[in-house]
Amino acid sequence: MRSKLVAGNWKMNMSRQETNEFIIAFEQLYKPLKETTVVLCPPFVWLDIMAVNLPAGVWLGAQNLHSRPKGAFTGEVSAPMLKDAGCKYVIVGHSERRQMGETDQLVRDKSRQALDCGLIPIVCVGESEVERNGGLAKVTVTSQLQGSLADLQFIAGELVVAYEPVWAIGTGKTASAADAQEMASHIRSYLQEQHAAAAANTQILYGGSVTPENAGSLFTQPDIDGALVGGASLDPVKFWSIITA
Ligand code: PGA
Repeated sequence: MRSKLVAGNWKMNMSRQETNEFIIAFEQLYKPLKETTVVLCPPFVWLDIMAVNLPAGVWLGAQNLHSRPKGAFTGEVSAPMLKDAGCKYVIVGHSERRQMGETDQLVRDKSRQALDCGLIPIVCVGESEVERNGGLAKVTVTSQLQGSLADLQFIAGELVVAYEPVWAIGTGKTASAADAQEMASHIRSYLQEQHAAAAANTQILYGGSVTPENAGSLFTQPDIDGALVGGASLDPVKFWSIITA
């Protein structure tokens, strides 16, 4: 039986003051839920504030990491540093980073680095609008999974997959619950073929304009185990409504 996971991806948003205000407001709403894990992924610079002040039971995640554990990589942050900062999760291969040139190979190297350091990578895949309209959504996602997960050894609970159709991210257009389920089920079949031991219990999230209004119907789909939430995670009330949906 898979539990639910709702992760907030703040992207490059929130000042120090806004971060503090969010924590205070979220603390008043938050109650630990048995079956739902809550994760927040702020910008690197606010990880420390969050690590100290988030309510117990809310996990911390980063939005990116480097594929090597240390060295001369100006501006980069390593998996051991993220562990040290209190992170349990790290988003890998978000489409906004793939658009900056991250390849499947790099996503795989980063995911391997996360796994080696005991961080849980949330590996993002998803097709563009052109690919969906051309009937290539599944082909695209399969090829991203092949490239991003090949050779990785993981058991259930050590890695999360997020299906995020690029055309739905930050656009207000959400995949229908049926379309999101169809792709989540496709992803689970892929895992069954290639990572059999992990497949049944690996959490698969949906991401792309998730709101308090559409979260409930997404979360009742059999292969969708939660959400990766961008915009709506900046508002404590909306984020909490999604978590409880
Ligand atoms: P969105 O972003 O919820 O703002 O569409 C989702 C994401 O990019 O993870």
